[in-house]
Amino acid sequence: MAKIGIFYGSTAGVTEEIAEKLVGYFDEDVCTLYNMEDDFDDFDDMLQYDYLLLGSSTWGSGEVQNDWRDPLVDMEDEKPDFTGKTIAFFGAGDCGTHGENFVSALGILYDSFKEAGATIVGEVPTDDYTFNYSFAVRDGKFVGLPIDEINESEKTDERIENWIENLRQYFPQ
Ligand SMILES: Cc1cc2nc3c(=O)[nH]c(=O)nc-3n(C[C@H](O)[C@H](O)[C@H](O)COP(=O)(O)O)c2cc1C
Repeated sequence: MAKIGIFYGSTAGVTEEIAEKLVGYFDEDVCTLYNMEDDFDDFDDMLQYDYLLLGSSTWGSGEVQNDWRDPLVDMEDEKPDFTGKTIAFFGAGDCGTHGENFVSALGILYDSFKEAGATIVGEVPTDDYTFNYSFAVRDGKFVGLPIDEINESEKTDERIENWIENLRQYFPQ
C-alpha cells in the first residue's frame, strides 16, 4: 500500500498535536510522523512518499514556523522534484491577534511545493473562519486546513474530521 509521510513544524506544540491526531486516521504501518526539527534531514525524506501531509504554524508576520525556514531556502537551490506527489497542508494560527496574516504559512508552503511539481489537495472553504487577510487563500479557499486553538478550539475536531473525509478520495486508506 502507498505510504504517507506527515511532516510538521511546531513551536508550542499546537501543530504537533494536530499532526498526532492526523496519524490516527491512517493505518499505523502506512503512516509516519516527522517533526521537522528532529527528524528531517533532506528532501529525500519526503520524496520516499507518494502522499504527504505537511504542517506549519504561522509566526512573525505571516511566516513559516522556524523549522521550515532552512528547508524552504534549500528547496530553492536544490529544486527537488515533487511531480506525481499528492500533498495536503495543515497548520495552526490565530485569527484574532493575527487575523491580518491568518495561517499565511500555508500559502508559503503551497507556493513552494506547487512550484516543485506537486499535486495539491485538501482546500478548505473560508466560510467557517473570521479573519482579515490570509496569504493561504487562493481562488477563495484556504490551500489547506487552518486550525485555531486559541479562539476556536471547540471546532478543531470537527474541522479535522471534515478535512480527512475530503482527503480520502485522494489518499490511500
Ligand atoms: C509572535 C507571534 C507571531 C504570530 N504570528 C502569527 C501570524 O502571522 N498568523 C497566524 O495565523 N498566527 C500567528 N501566531 C499564532 C501562532 O501561529 C499560534 O499560537 C499557533 O497555535 C502556534 O502553533 P505551534 O505551537 O504549532 O507553533 C503568532 C504567535 C506569536 C506568539
